[in-house]
Amino acid sequence: MHLCSYVVNLRKGNPILRCVRLVLFILHGKIIYMAIVAPSLLAADFLRLERECKMLDDSEADWFHLDVMDGRFVPNISYGPMIIEFIRKTTRKPCDVHLMILEPEKFAEEFKKAGADHVTVHIEACPNLHRNIQQIKSLGMQVGVAINPHTPVTSLIDVLQDIDIVCLMSVNPGYGAQKFIPHSLSKISELRKLIDNWNLPVLIEVDGGVTLENAKDIVAAGADVLVAGNTVFKSKDPRATISQLRAIQTAKSL
Ligand code: DX5
Ligand code: ZN
Repeated sequence: MHLCSYVVNLRKGNPILRCVRLVLFILHGKIIYMAIVAPSLLAADFLRLERECKMLDDSEADWFHLDVMDGRFVPNISYGPMIIEFIRKTTRKPCDVHLMILEPEKFAEEFKKAGADHVTVHIEACPNLHRNIQQIKSLGMQVGVAINPHTPVTSLIDVLQDIDIVCLMSVNPGYGAQKFIPHSLSKISELRKLIDNWNLPVLIEVDGGVTLENAKDIVAAGADVLVAGNTVFKSKDPRATISQLRAIQTAKSL
C-alpha cells in the first residue's frame, strides 16, 4: 500500500506521529494537511441534545464547538456553563468553548468547572486581553482568541506566542447559517504566514459559513480547524458530512 494513503496532519503535537510525518515527508516531499473538524452544537436539535451529542461522539468529529452568547457582545443569547456541564457528560472529546460575551473573566472558572478544554475569548470584548489569556491558562485550559471579520490579523501580533488557537470569524458572530465572507480566505493566508514565520504551534480555527463546497479552499488557505454548524446538523447524514469534511486535505511541498 502506498504510504501517502496514510493521511496525517503534521501540525498535531504527538511526537511519534511527527516522526512518521517526517519520514513520509522525506519519502514523498509533501506534507498532507487534514482538517480538525469541530461541529457547532448551536445548530443541533436541543430537544434531542443527548442524542445529538452521542452522534457527534460516535462520529469522526474531533472537537465539540460550543457557542456561548450573552445578548450583549452579540445580538443573540444561546447557553452557558450549565448546558456545557451536561454536554461534557456525553463525551471525552475536547469541548471547545467559544465565548461571545463581555467580561469573560467573570465566568472563566465556571467554564472550567463545567468541563471546558479550550476557552476562546473575543479580542473585541477584552480591553485587558493579555490578562484574560493568563487567567484561562492558569486554570489549565487551552486558550484561544477570536477576531471578527472587521478586525485585522495584525491585532494578534503581541499575543500570538501566548495562545493555542486563533478563531477567525468568517461571519459576523451571533447566528448560525450565515454566508461565508470570501475576504476571510486572504485573512487565513495572512495568519498562516505569520504563524509559520514564527514557527508557533497555534491552530487556525475558521468559524462561520463553512460548507462542503468552500472547505477545501479554507484548508488550502491554511486553516487547521473547521467549525461547522448547519452544514453538519442540517444535512441528511451528519456523520457522513463530518467524514467528508475530515477527508478534505491539502498537500504542500516545502
Ligand atoms: C456564530 C458561531 C458559529 C456558528 C457556526 O457566531 O460562532 O460557531 O454556530 O454555524 P454555521 O456553521 O452554521 O455558520
Ligand atoms: Zn463559534
